[in-house]
Amino acid sequence: MKIRVPATSANLGPGFDSCGIALSLYLFIEVLGPNEKWEIIHDLGNDVPSDASNLMIETALSLAPNLTPQKIKMNSSVPLARGLGSSSSVIVAGIELANRLAHLNLSQQDKVEIATRIEGHPDNVAPAICGDFVVACYFPEKHKDDVSYVKHYFPEGDIIAFIPNKELLTVESREVLPKSFSYRDAVEASGIANVMIAALIKGNLPLAAKMMQEDRWHERYRQKFVPHLALIRQICQDEGAYGCFLSGAGPTVLILSPEEQTEKVMQSLRRIDDTARIEQLSIDREGIQVF
Ligand code: HSE
Repeated sequence: MKIRVPATSANLGPGFDSCGIALSLYLFIEVLGPNEKWEIIHDLGNDVPSDASNLMIETALSLAPNLTPQKIKMNSSVPLARGLGSSSSVIVAGIELANRLAHLNLSQQDKVEIATRIEGHPDNVAPAICGDFVVACYFPEKHKDDVSYVKHYFPEGDIIAFIPNKELLTVESREVLPKSFSYRDAVEASGIANVMIAALIKGNLPLAAKMMQEDRWHERYRQKFVPHLALIRQICQDEGAYGCFLSGAGPTVLILSPEEQTEKVMQSLRRIDDTARIEQLSIDREGIQVF
């Protein structure tokens, strides 16, 4: 059995903790067969455990504690701690692993709810499971683990990822966020998010990108971790890209661009940091796949 889970980009600016897209970078796992103990063969570095303490196995065992240990091969092109949903991809793979090996018969809704409970918010895990563009909300206190979500087609257009060569931990990037927000600011911020989502549904990428750049919820507080964001925003304006936003908690920035401007935008991006990975990505429409 092989499982493939896409990378994801959460928030899309004003859709903080709620909106996300699935992208064409992938975590692959291959179950090679039963083993004396859990063993993960990977080349993802020493920080990624190769035994039962790997997040994927911990997740699988939390759902099915009596699973027979397996030897598993893991590969990933999702960079770690860059705001592209690497830990969500591992959690989602662990849920599917338990689902298949223990015949849990989980529905997509079950998977989204379990993954959201583990991750704390649905904006990465929901598109990793469903694919494409997902808008979701989760109120853990009010409705137990109920997650409401809607998947919709993300409009065609080029997507460029600017992936800095340094990690930024989500916990660190969340610590700088305010504990409260005035009613007036919240009304303005949610209005911007509403128009962003409506524009995406209408297929109006220029308007959606304009709203993405008007985020009030999180990007301004995270500026100090991501000084390149302001530079990239300027490049978008100068080179005719639609706009950009911080991918999840950062430090990656995603740029939305009309096809004819993409080459120029990428050239300018290379000039601001030649150690960054700059890649053109596409939307993954399917979400998790099992082969
Ligand atoms: N919505 C989350 C954040 C995504 O921005 O902190 C990262 O997990």
